[in-house]
Amino acid sequence: MKLILGNCLDKLKELDENSVDSIVTDPPYGISFMSKDWDYDVPKASKRDRNEGLEDTEKGCFHPTVKPTKLMQYLVRLVTPKGGTVLDPFMGSGSTGKACVLEGFDFIGMEMDEDYIKIAEARIEATNKEKRGKLKL
Ligand SMILES: C[S@@+](CC[C@H](N)C(=O)[O-])C[C@H]1O[C@@H](n2cnc3c(N)ncnc32)[C@H](O)[C@@H]1O
Repeated sequence: MKLILGNCLDKLKELDENSVDSIVTDPPYGISFMSKDWDYDVPKASKRDRNEGLEDTEKGCFHPTVKPTKLMQYLVRLVTPKGGTVLDPFMGSGSTGKACVLEGFDFIGMEMDEDYIKIAEARIEATNKEKRGKLKL
């Protein structure tokens, strides 16, 4: 697991060749592609999913576009070979990272906002703890 703070346009150049197996991402809003605006009808994460790991903080998860972990689990499984490494260059609050923990993939996330990367760290760590707890049972 590697969370990188910075502009992905710069940070992508620093990645080693062949170090990722798939890219699963949710780019910034405002992008039109194949005659479709992608900002409408987007799935939203539940309150519990958003705030996992941030229960003790005052603001909780304040990222505006958090995606459901289940959806990201489906997407990472779809395109990543077993045990592979997933890259999300627009990581936001870390939903793709959570999905990777649950699906047994390694993860590299990039995010240019320092507050969001802290949220991502907390959410991914909480998922890690939960998974470790379940494995002990
Ligand atoms: C649509 S959000 C991703 C939301 C994420 N899927 C989640 O569940 O929280 C896109 C994110 O990309 C970040 N971002 C935008 N441009 C960026 C860039 N050039 N480099 C790194 N991060 C960037 C924004 O700060 C924002 O958090």
